[in-house]
Amino acid sequence: MQVHEYDVVIVGAGGAGMRAAIESGQRARTAVLTKLYPTRSHTGAAQGGMCAALANVEEDNWEWHTFDTIKGGDYLVDQDAAEVMAKEAIDAVLDLEKMGLPFNRTPEGKIDQRRFGGHTRDHGKAPVRRACYAADRTGHMILQTLYQNCVKHGVEFFNEFYVLDLLMVEEDGVKKAAGAVAYELATGEIHVFRSKAVVFATGGFGKVFKTTSNAHTLTGDGVAVTFRRGLPLEDMEFFQFHPTGLAGLGILLSEAARGEGGILRNGDGERFMERYAPTIKDLAPRDIVARSMANEVREGRGAGPNKDYVLLDLTHLEPAHIDAKLPDITEFARTYLGVEPYTEPVPVFPTAHYGMGGIPTNIDAEVLLDNDTVVPGLYAAGECACVSVHGSNRLGTNSLLDINVFGKRAGLAAAEYVKTAKLPELPEDENPAEFVQTMVETMRSSNGTESVAAIRKDLQETMDANVQVFRTEETLRTALADVEALRERYKNVGIQDRGSRYNLDLLEAIELGFLLEISEIVIVGALHRKESRGGHFREDFPDRDDANFMKHTMIYKDPEAEVEGIKGLRMENKPVVVTRYQPMERKY
Ligand code: FUM
Repeated sequence: MQVHEYDVVIVGAGGAGMRAAIESGQRARTAVLTKLYPTRSHTGAAQGGMCAALANVEEDNWEWHTFDTIKGGDYLVDQDAAEVMAKEAIDAVLDLEKMGLPFNRTPEGKIDQRRFGGHTRDHGKAPVRRACYAADRTGHMILQTLYQNCVKHGVEFFNEFYVLDLLMVEEDGVKKAAGAVAYELATGEIHVFRSKAVVFATGGFGKVFKTTSNAHTLTGDGVAVTFRRGLPLEDMEFFQFHPTGLAGLGILLSEAARGEGGILRNGDGERFMERYAPTIKDLAPRDIVARSMANEVREGRGAGPNKDYVLLDLTHLEPAHIDAKLPDITEFARTYLGVEPYTEPVPVFPTAHYGMGGIPTNIDAEVLLDNDTVVPGLYAAGECACVSVHGSNRLGTNSLLDINVFGKRAGLAAAEYVKTAKLPELPEDENPAEFVQTMVETMRSSNGTESVAAIRKDLQETMDANVQVFRTEETLRTALADVEALRERYKNVGIQDRGSRYNLDLLEAIELGFLLEISEIVIVGALHRKESRGGHFREDFPDRDDANFMKHTMIYKDPEAEVEGIKGLRMENKPVVVTRYQPMERKY
C-alpha cells in the first residue's frame, strides 16, 4: 500500500474535475485521480453546445436563461443555484475562449450561438440562440482545452486510478473529508491519498440502463462511494431520456440537429411536436419531446417495419450546412444505421442520458450531510452532484455549463479551504485501506458461480422495460423485485481473472455492485413520488402535485429504517429554494 499526501484530491477527470483542478492546481498541491485517461472522459461525448446569454446573435439575458432552467426543471430547481449558473455562464464561456477553445464564429468573429430545447426569448415567447458550440463536438473541445490547461498549470494526474473509498474523520464531533483510497489498474496496488479536501467529479450512472448514450464507464462510482460512507443522495428518481438516440442503439444524435432546423416526424410523415408543444415544437424540453415520441409509437404512429421509432428529418437542410454544423452525428447515422441524412430521415428513439440527482451540494459545491450541514473539505460537481440546477429535467447544454460553473466553484472553494485547514489525522489503530482491500480481495478470491455480464444484462433490461419514460406502481414494483433478486445473485458473483495487472474483470464486478445499489435508490424514489414532474412521469399519477411533492427527495443509508419495503434506507425531504418564480403550469 502506498500513501500520498496532497492538499486537494480531485476524483474524476471529466469537465467538472479538470475545471476544478485548473483553479485548485494554481493555488494548492492538487492531484487528480481518474479511472480513465482524462481525454477519454465522457464529457468528450457531449455534442451540441454550452449555453450562456451572451446575446451575440440576438437579444438575450441571464434572467431569461434562469427562468428557462427553472421552468424546464418543472419547478424543482433550486432557484438560487439556477441564478448563479445563468449569471456565471457568460464568464464560463469567456474563460474557455481565453483558454483556447475553438468555438464556431459569426461572420463578425463573435462566438456563434444556436438554438436548443427549452431555451427561449422573454419567458417562453420563442426559441432563442443561446448555445455556444464547436460544431457537434463541443464536449470534446472542452475536454481537450481543459486538459491542456491542467497540464499548463502543473496539475498531477494519477491515470487509471479507480477510487473505491472516501476517507472521513470525526474531529470535535464534526465529520470531515480526509482523503480517498484508490485501486491502481496497471498494478493492482492500493493507494491511500491523504488530503485536506476531496472533490468528487465522477460523472453519471447511465449504465443502469441498456439503451443509453452513456459510455461503459458511467457506473455511478462516486455516487455509490459517498452513499456507502453515509452521505445522502438527492432526487435520484429523476433520470433524463434524450429524445434522439439512434433507434435500437441509443447513440446520441445531438439536439443541435433540431437547433439547426431538423424536424421530428412520425410514421405518417407528420410533424407531431406541433400538437404537443405548439409554440416551440421540436425545441421543447427533453422530457416533453421524449414522452411525445414514445406516445406516438404507443398509439401506432411509429415509423419502420415495427413502427417502433420516429424520424429525425434533416433532408430540407443544405448538405453544406449539415457538414459544417453537424458533421459527427450525421456520420454516426451513416456508420451505424446505413442512413444518408442528406436524403433520408434518421430513425430515432429516446435514450437514457443524464441523472438529474446525485450527491447533494450547496452553491459552493460543498457536500451536505443532511439538508444544510456542510461536510468540511468535501466537494462535488457535475453529473455526480445535485446542486440542484436541473430539478426534475435538465435543459440541453446546461450540463456543459454546470460542469464549468460548479467545477470552477468547487476548485476555488477547495483551494480556499485548504489555506487554513490542517491535514486530518487518520486513526492510528485503523488501516485506512481496509475497506477497499477487503472489497477487492473478497471479489478476486470469490468462487461464486454468477456472472457479472449476466446480472448486468438482467439489470439493464428490467430498468429499460420498467423505469422508463412512462412509469407506474406496477412497473416500478416489478423493477424493484428484479433488482432485489439480482442483489441476491450478486452475493454469489465470481470472476475469471485472479490477477493484479489490468484486471478489468474485477473492476466490472465492483462497478456492478454500484449499479445495483443505485438502481434500487432510483426505483424507491420513483415509487415514493406519486406525481408526474419533469423526467419522472407516473401514468397512475399523471399530474404535477405541488401540494405534496414540491420538495427534494433525500435518501440515506440507515440500517434501522425502511422505505417502500426496502430495509436499510431512510427517506427524508428537503424544501425547494424559490426566489422569484412561483410554480406555474408548464406550457410550451
Ligand atoms: O444533444 C446534445 O447535444 C446533448 C447535450 C446535452 O446533453 O446537454
